[in-house]
Parts: sequence; structure tokens; C-alpha cells
Amino acid sequence: MSKILLKNIKGLVQAGEQIPSVRKGAEMKQLDIIENAFLALEDGEVISYGSMLEWEGIIDWRDVEIVDADGCYVLPAFIDAHTHTVFAKSREEEFVDRIHGLSYEDIAAKGGGILNSARKLSELSEDELFEAAKKRIERIIQSGTGALEIKSGYGLSVDGEIKMLRVIKRLKACMPIVIKATFLGAHAFPVDYKENKRGYIDLIIQEMLPMIQKEQLADYIDVFCEHNYFSVAEMEEILRAGIACGLKPKVHVNQFSILGGVQKAVELGAISVDHLEEIDENDIQSLLHSDTIPTLLPGCSHFLSIPFGDARRIIDAGLPLALASDYNPGSSPNYHLMTILSLACLKQKMTPEEGINALTINAAAALELSESHGKIAIGRKSPIMLTKEIPSLAYLAYAFGEEHVQRMFI
Ligand code: NIG
Ligand code: FE
Repeated sequence: MSKILLKNIKGLVQAGEQIPSVRKGAEMKQLDIIENAFLALEDGEVISYGSMLEWEGIIDWRDVEIVDADGCYVLPAFIDAHTHTVFAKSREEEFVDRIHGLSYEDIAAKGGGILNSARKLSELSEDELFEAAKKRIERIIQSGTGALEIKSGYGLSVDGEIKMLRVIKRLKACMPIVIKATFLGAHAFPVDYKENKRGYIDLIIQEMLPMIQKEQLADYIDVFCEHNYFSVAEMEEILRAGIACGLKPKVHVNQFSILGGVQKAVELGAISVDHLEEIDENDIQSLLHSDTIPTLLPGCSHFLSIPFGDARRIIDAGLPLALASDYNPGSSPNYHLMTILSLACLKQKMTPEEGINALTINAAAALELSESHGKIAIGRKSPIMLTKEIPSLAYLAYAFGEEHVQRMFI
């Protein structure tokens, strides 16, 4: 049995028995912080916490590891509810092309982008992909992340998509954090189906989905709904087929254009709608009548120099908001959620408190992990983050790029 006592914690964040499982609108400014606190863990389970002044020495002192957290904060680990962590190779050549003036769309139109990643992925074996992703996730955990969503979508063939999802299934089994898998066969039309879109949609519905259901390879179904990718009608057909196979929708919508995908995804019970660099009043209204979590990806906006999602408009309308990294080799080669927090504060005018809620409670809701993640409460085995010595919680967002995590308790 492993027992750990963290004492003299400068601020124990998001710890409490009454913390809601989602925070919306003005509530997002609220953060529960116990100052000068302790936290006791037994085999990773929270058995006691509170103010040092109320400390009653309720744990058995034998074999306890004592961690002096003087000057440091303790938070529930961040949750990354949108990533493409399984990929073959980085794509910095496209990044250089963009410096020279090409746009993300120009690069995609000449066979780069997602199709470039698909080509590279077809050259790697399942084992090679698995080993590369495993190393990435080890670094991801050290950066403060305690649960992860990973999408397929660089296979774009029956073999490629199933290979990716099998890799994710193996990662779920061997990594110490919770991982959720999303099937994104509808990420782009592969080269061979450029003139036969119907054929590719049939392949997704008739061949990929039955295999995924049989081998239980995914939790969610995603579609990239955008001009030159999948229309709203195509998205609806694919999502409905996924739902029939037990997968819940979680979709890429409104990255470059407003096509009505948000309303359709909400109508189909999407757990989250992600990107939303563009948003209009119809989107806001349909979200207000749903439990769907809007999720913004400021790393993608920063990296592609496209508009940042309007976090203020979303929050001020009374909606909940989650943030995620969108970690992928094309539009956001960064998994560091502290950087995402900084970008959200700097570019989207979110307060650090709103940002932390968006990366803990609300991100847990966007991954259906509210029962186990996003807050610290008795009996929970949620992953926990200990920061280095920092002057305040806002410093996490302020000192962008600095490494703030001292240790993770998983
Ligand atoms: O979320 N927008 C679609 N998909 C990814 C990018 C994929 C890529 O460029 O490899 C995204 O930004
Ligand atoms: Fe994405």
C-alpha cells in the first residue's frame, strides 16, 4: 500500500464534495481553493484533505511518504479532451511552406495536410505507431495531463483506420491514465475516393464501423464538417451510423466556416462540438438548449494564424466551455495544456480561473469523466498535479512556456 501526505500546500484547488460536474457562464469564474492545506492519498485514492489548521492526524503514520508542498499548488490534473496523438511523423515542412505564404487550405489542396499524414501513416506498422505514441503520452503526462482523448483519422482506409484504433486500444490498456478513443474515419476524403465521395462514406459505414463495433475499438465518432471535407448532410449520415454502433458524437465543426454543423451535432446528442473558431447566434442558441460542451482549441488558432474562438461570447451567453490542445502534426503540434491556458487568457480574454475550470471540470464533462476526473474529492482516484513553487495561481497562465509541474500523482 502506498500512502502519500502532501502538507503545507499553498492552495489546494478544485477540492470539495459539492463541486458541480460542469461550470457554466459566470460560474466559470469560481474556483474552490483551500489555502494552507493538506491532502492524503492511499493507493492514489483521496482519503482526507482540508486546511492544515484542521489537521487531525487521521492517517496511519507508518510508511507514509510526506511531501512538503510549501509554496506550491495542488490541482486535479488537466484533461485533454481533443487530440490526434497517434500519428506517424511531424510535418514541419508544411509549417515552413506556410511561413513562405501558403495557407493551410493551399497545402491541403496540393495533397499535403491530412493526406500527407495518411501517406506517412500507411508506411508504419502498428507496433511502430504504438511505440511512438507511448513515448508522446509519457511526456504528455509529465506536462500535467491526467486523461486523454485520441482520434483516428490519419488512416483513411479500412486497414489504416483499424490500425490506428488498435494502437489506441493498446495504449488504453498500458498507460496509467484514462484514454478515450474516437473514430474519425471522416477526417478527409482519401486520394482514391476524390471523385467518389459516396464510395468512401459507404466504406466508413459498411466496412469500418462494423469492425470497430465488433472489436470495441472506439467510444466516440467524429466527422470534420467543413467545405472540401464533409457536408452537414454527410456528417449526419455518418454520425447516425456511428450512433447505431454505440458511438457518441464528438465533432470538428466551424473551424473555417459556419455550415450549420453545430445545430445538427447538438440535435444528434453530441457530447462536445470542437473548434468553433467561427460561431453565430444560431450556434449559441442551440448550445443553450443542450448538454453539449463547446470546446475551443486555441493552439490550432495560434499555429495556423486563424481567428481564436470567441470564448467571451460563449461564456457570457451562459454556456460552459472546455479547452483542449488538438495536439496533431498539422494544425497544433503542442500537447502542453499550460500553454493552452496561457493562450486562452491572452488571446481569448479568459481569466485564469475560467481557464482552469475549462481544463478540469468542463474538460472532464467533454470526455464523460465527471465521476472520476476534474476535481478532488474523497474516494476518488483522480490524477493530481503538484506545481513548482509559484507566487499565485494566475502565474500558471502568466509565465507562458515555463515548466510549472513539479510532480504528477497518477
Ligand atoms: O483538428 N481540422 C481537422 N483536423 C485537425 C488537423 C489535422 C491535420 O492537419 O493533420 C484539427 O485541426
Ligand atoms: Fe482536431
